[in-house]
Amino acid sequence: MTEALSAADAGKFTASRGAVDLVEDGMRLGLGTGSTASWMVRCLAARVAREDLTLTCVPTSTRTGVLARALGLTVVGLDDAGWLDLTIDGADEFDPALNLIKGGGGAHLQEKIVAAASDRMVVITDPSKDVARLGAFPLPVEVTPFGLATTRKLIGRVLDGAAVGGRDTTVRMAGDTPFVTDEGNHIIDLRLERIDAPQDLADALLRIPGVVETGLFLGMCDTVVIGHPDGRVETRRADGSAPRFAQVDLAEAAMLPVA
Ligand code: A5P
Repeated sequence: MTEALSAADAGKFTASRGAVDLVEDGMRLGLGTGSTASWMVRCLAARVAREDLTLTCVPTSTRTGVLARALGLTVVGLDDAGWLDLTIDGADEFDPALNLIKGGGGAHLQEKIVAAASDRMVVITDPSKDVARLGAFPLPVEVTPFGLATTRKLIGRVLDGAAVGGRDTTVRMAGDTPFVTDEGNHIIDLRLERIDAPQDLADALLRIPGVVETGLFLGMCDTVVIGHPDGRVETRRADGSAPRFAQVDLAEAAMLPVA
C-alpha cells in the first residue's frame, strides 16, 4: 500500500479507479457526492487527460461541481444534458439486492434525481458499506424548512407503525442551526437500526407532505464496485451474476490531479 494512503482511502481510490474504466468516450455522466465520489472525480479527470476523452458531466452537488470544474471536466446542469448514460456515486450502505442508503453527505435529493435520469447507476464503495440488511446507518430524510417540527412528528407516527428496530429521529445540525441542503431544505436522520421493509417505509415517508425525499435508493443501482484496501476491485451486479475481480495499482493514487 502507498505509505500515505489509509486503508479507507485505498479502498475508495480502488473502487473509483475500477469504476472509471466503465466510462466511454462521448458519455454523459452523473457525478456523485462524498469522499468516495471525490476520488472518482479525480480518477476521471486523470483518465480524460490521459486519453483525451470528450465527456459531459452533471454533478449531484455544488461541491462536486466545484471539484469537477477545477479539474478541467466539462460540467453542465442536468436539464442541459438531458438523459445520462451513467451515474457513478458513493453510498452509505448497500444490501445484497444493491438497495442503498445514501445522504450521509446531505446530497441525496440531487443524487436521486440524477440517478433516475441515467441508464445506469454504479455505486463505488469500500467494503465497510456492505450490509446484510439496511438500517444501521441513520436514514437521511430531506424535509422542507416550513413545518420542520410538524414533519418530524409525522415521521415519528410513521415509524411507530413501521417494521424497524429503532425510532429516534434527529434534525441534522451545522453548528447551532439546522443543516441546509443545496435545495434549501433540512435533513432529519432516522436511527432505525434495521429496516425490514424498505419499500413500505419509503412509500409511507413520501406520503408526508413535508418530506421531499428519502435516502432509500431501491432498485436503482445495477452495479456496485467495491474497492479493497489491497487494490482488488470487486464488481457485483444486481442481476446476481458472479462477482468479477480485477486489480489496480495503488501507486497511481499519488499521481492523481488535485484541485
Ligand atoms: C452524499 O449525500 C451521500 O449520498 C454519499 O454518497 C454517501 O454519504 C457516501 O459518502 P462517502 O463516500 O463520503 O462515504
